[in-house]
Amino acid sequence: MRIITVANQKGGCAKTTTVVNLAAALAELGKKVLVIDLDPQANATQWLSATSIPEASFRLLTQDDDVNTLWSTSLTANIDVIAASQSLADIEKELAGKSDAESILKLRLSALDSTRWDYVLIDTPPTLGIITINALVACKKLLIPVTTHVLSLAGVAQMMKMVQEVKEGSNPELEILGFIATRVNIRTRHSKDVLNALYERFGSQVLKSVIRENVRVAEAPSFRQSILKYDTKSPASMDYRELAREVVKLQGSAR
Ligand SMILES: Nc1ncnc2c1ncn2[C@@H]1O[C@H](COP(=O)(O)OP(=O)(O)O)[C@@H](O)[C@H]1O
Ligand SMILES: [Mg+2]
Repeated sequence: MRIITVANQKGGCAKTTTVVNLAAALAELGKKVLVIDLDPQANATQWLSATSIPEASFRLLTQDDDVNTLWSTSLTANIDVIAASQSLADIEKELAGKSDAESILKLRLSALDSTRWDYVLIDTPPTLGIITINALVACKKLLIPVTTHVLSLAGVAQMMKMVQEVKEGSNPELEILGFIATRVNIRTRHSKDVLNALYERFGSQVLKSVIRENVRVAEAPSFRQSILKYDTKSPASMDYRELAREVVKLQGSAR
């Protein structure tokens, strides 16, 4: 079971889009995927229509319920979800003063039935607060989506600083799985510039797959479908399939 956190504190850089569509592409390869939605906005939870256990990730971080009772099935075969809720917005308050506040998720996930899922994908909020720290402490690999349609590298340095702190502190095993360029439109100068800046700065850490800008991707959540189901032959569906293959390859065999 591989635990991958998808994070970048910049809002709108396609974290949730990456989590849901990568999960769908991994599921299509026959992998069993657990999505843990840690964003109070609960976009991934709603998109995947996985709400049979409400407030699940809040309970995961604040109560002692067995983690193996907290997941809901989704409308997509092979994808289960630990659902987010608005209450996650109060988590800083809930965890304040607890000595293990940064490693609660890691502790709770250590009881996860590792034979049930091949991949765990964690979606995070657009902040570098306690929730994102918990996700960085609980995972081995970090996937960083960077959107190329607006200038988006500014926040990455801040994020890398936090990654370094977590590596030096509670999670020395943390590694960057890769940067994934999203919303790429090579016909625009700007998109090309951001992509080049990404390659210059992070070299081989930038994944070979790129996700192209495609309006069908933005439409898919309203239909509660991944892009792979909503428009299976679209360029973006091909991109997410390519990304899934690259992730599987980088992660080795998944159990
Ligand atoms: N490849 C893409 N093509 C077009 N729109 C995209 C693409 N990827 C993401 N988007 C859109 O960008 C917006 C932000 O994506 P989202 O995944 O919600 O970001 P985050 O979770 O980082 O806040 C959404 O409206 C989403 O539909
Ligand atoms: Mg999101």
